[in-house]
Amino acid sequence: MRTYSRIAGTGSFLPPRRLTNADLVALLAQHGVETTDEWIVERTGIRARHYADDGMNASDLALQASLAALQAADCTAADVDLIIVATSTPDMVFPSTATILQRKLTEAALAAGQARGPAGCPAFDVQAVCSGFIYALTVADAMIQTGAVRRALVVGAEVFSRILDFNDRTTCVLFGDGAGAVVLEATQHDGSGPGILASDIHADGRHTDILCVPGTVSGGGVLGDPLLKMDGQAVFKLAVGLLESAAKAALAKAGKTEADIDWLVPHQANIRIMQSTARKLKMGMDKVVVTVHEHGNTSAASIPLALDHAVRAGQLQPGQTAMLEGVGGGFTWGAVLVRL
Ligand code: UT7
Repeated sequence: MRTYSRIAGTGSFLPPRRLTNADLVALLAQHGVETTDEWIVERTGIRARHYADDGMNASDLALQASLAALQAADCTAADVDLIIVATSTPDMVFPSTATILQRKLTEAALAAGQARGPAGCPAFDVQAVCSGFIYALTVADAMIQTGAVRRALVVGAEVFSRILDFNDRTTCVLFGDGAGAVVLEATQHDGSGPGILASDIHADGRHTDILCVPGTVSGGGVLGDPLLKMDGQAVFKLAVGLLESAAKAALAKAGKTEADIDWLVPHQANIRIMQSTARKLKMGMDKVVVTVHEHGNTSAASIPLALDHAVRAGQLQPGQTAMLEGVGGGFTWGAVLVRL
């Protein structure tokens, strides 16, 4: 018998403003930039994405996703004793988006007539770009396994629309905004029950330049370029191999094989990367959760968004095993094998 972190509930939220590829073609035309629905669909699989309106921040998206996850887990925010938010588009330089979420959860709890919210529990952000949710899950799982916490709220929340360069068609068509959340709970069993079975995370800082937002806040202004830069082909080539190796390492740690995976829940960046990873793991696309066509790439939010979508659609069933995996700026990458 040992302690496992089981997913007790999932939730997600997309800001209401939805832009189809046709909407984006029209928006980019205002910048004198040409793109087409055909190019975007053929190269990426993306058909639409959501953008947060001005004034709606990562913590606002995180709040809605968290409330849905808490409801699904049949608990309140006061029952949570750890909050981790994975984001690269935080509300502020500091404090962390996790503490802002904690305040909003506390206000929501009090407004709903509950005696208290999660004020007092540790709350912090994880910054690993598109691998952020995999990193955050791994950290929360480790803290649950040591007995430091019993229940963790783990969120991926992004407003990437704020850091897109609408003069750069090679990147701005790819990304969207959104949030996803899970409630992780400690449970004891012999390995046959639900929970995170293994995880595997990595980084290689030699590749910081191929995917970055190089600007920063300094001396009362923005120093450097605050918009997203990506060498798409370099990222693509690295991503395919790294995702395969992380998934295989997580399987090996859990003593499992590809045949034990019921569902692949990959980072939703590009349908071609997902197809390639599925092939390498000997899985058909009917076992891959795909939401990229509707959400675009929502960075740290993409895996929990896809997970929640699959749970609520009845695809992922209790007892089934899912491989979650992601890759992103840094370079960072990783995989988490979890039984629902
Ligand atoms: O979340 C972090 C992980 N990020 C990723 O996984 C992204 C990985 N990379 C990719 O998904 C792909 O590399 C992209 C979707 C970004 C690009 O696809 P590609 O097949 O690698 O295209 P490319 O960069 O080789 O560009 C091919 C052509 C170029 O034109 P020429 O030079 O062949 O005449 C581009 O200028 O497509 C052109 N192009 C576009 N055309 C219309 C690039 N972007 C666009 C566009 N609309 N939006």
